[in-house]
Amino acid sequence: MTTYIDWRDVPAEEIRPLYEAETARWRASLDWNLQPSWDIVEPARAAGRLPGLIARDRQGRTVGWAFFLLHGDILQIGALVGDRAAVVRGLLDAVLDSPEAALARELSGFFFPRGSAEQAAFVRRRIPVFRHLYLRRPLTAEDTPVDEEAEAQGIRLRTWTPHDAVAMVRLLARAYRKAPNVRCFAPHERLEEWAHYLGQLVRTSACGEFRPEASFIAERADTRAPVGLVVTTLLAPGTAHVAQVAVDPDAMRAGLGRRLMRASFGAARAAGHTQVTLVVGDDNARARGLYDRLGFTEAASFLFACRQTPLRRSFPAAGAGQNAA
Ligand SMILES: CC(C)(COP(=O)(O)OP(=O)(O)OC[C@H]1O[C@@H](n2cnc3c(N)ncnc32)[C@H](O)[C@@H]1OP(=O)(O)O)[C@@H](O)C(=O)NCCC(=O)NCCS
Repeated sequence: MTTYIDWRDVPAEEIRPLYEAETARWRASLDWNLQPSWDIVEPARAAGRLPGLIARDRQGRTVGWAFFLLHGDILQIGALVGDRAAVVRGLLDAVLDSPEAALARELSGFFFPRGSAEQAAFVRRRIPVFRHLYLRRPLTAEDTPVDEEAEAQGIRLRTWTPHDAVAMVRLLARAYRKAPNVRCFAPHERLEEWAHYLGQLVRTSACGEFRPEASFIAERADTRAPVGLVVTTLLAPGTAHVAQVAVDPDAMRAGLGRRLMRASFGAARAAGHTQVTLVVGDDNARARGLYDRLGFTEAASFLFACRQTPLRRSFPAAGAGQNAA
């Protein structure tokens, strides 16, 4: 028998080792330092603002944990960790039986799975999952800083400024229109979803620490209209991360995506980093082709769980599966 208890009732000393184990796993496999995320999560948990669950076995040992929150009407699952498949299943059932889930219309979550249990648990609850690849590439002497004066095909690159945010929200919406992976960022393709997403990237550590000096805007030399961007973050000392790259549909397939990527690499290497990573949807053939040619190789895979239809409709009867591990 596994029991699931509210993690807000558990002392911080019991929670700390759970964060530490995840931090160690992410660092070993991904060179990604999760500590800045826990620095946000733990105060919210301790203050009672962030719901979550701890799974305990018969002997009272912690065998899994999860946390989640309601953002608008989307239930976002932040972690789902269990030491065996039945615990992962039980945790997901308990999350879906929470009061927050009752208020949600949709669900999303991004996971670095330990095995196949996470995928199986979502599929069992009829929540679609999409594979995303974590790619890496070493930074080498060929990665040199971009010349901001240089113009090619009437387009110049310059570093990001805080004034760019609004124009970049619009650019993202244009670049991703009808793209298969848009669901990860702006499920309904609304501008406010893009604004929230970009705000998360540049103001929080959700996807590493934003590095404006390694993030670039491409604009037309004559009108200064923005036609592309690359957002670079830092995941850990030495590891830069291309958190976003997008090109206006009118400027696509002319080498601009590649040029933006190379600008990010040059700035990251100049800052002393040794590798660059990124995450790309398995089904994003256009972007994957570009990354292949730039020398990226697959290092791990992530799972994106996303359900855009009302959650409750296809659930088993309330309580089914709970405490059933
Ligand atoms: C992915 C993305 C950034 C690529 O931007 P892009 O500017 O079109 O990329 P590039 O032009 O550098 O390379 C793309 C293609 O153009 C080709 N190309 C490059 N220079 C070219 C030129 N001068 N003339 C014609 N074609 C050219 C490339 O060979 C490549 O061909 P392929 O797609 O047939 O393999 C862009 O498609 C985009 O914004 N997509 C939506 C957002 C997205 O998915 N971002 C990635 C998230 S992980």
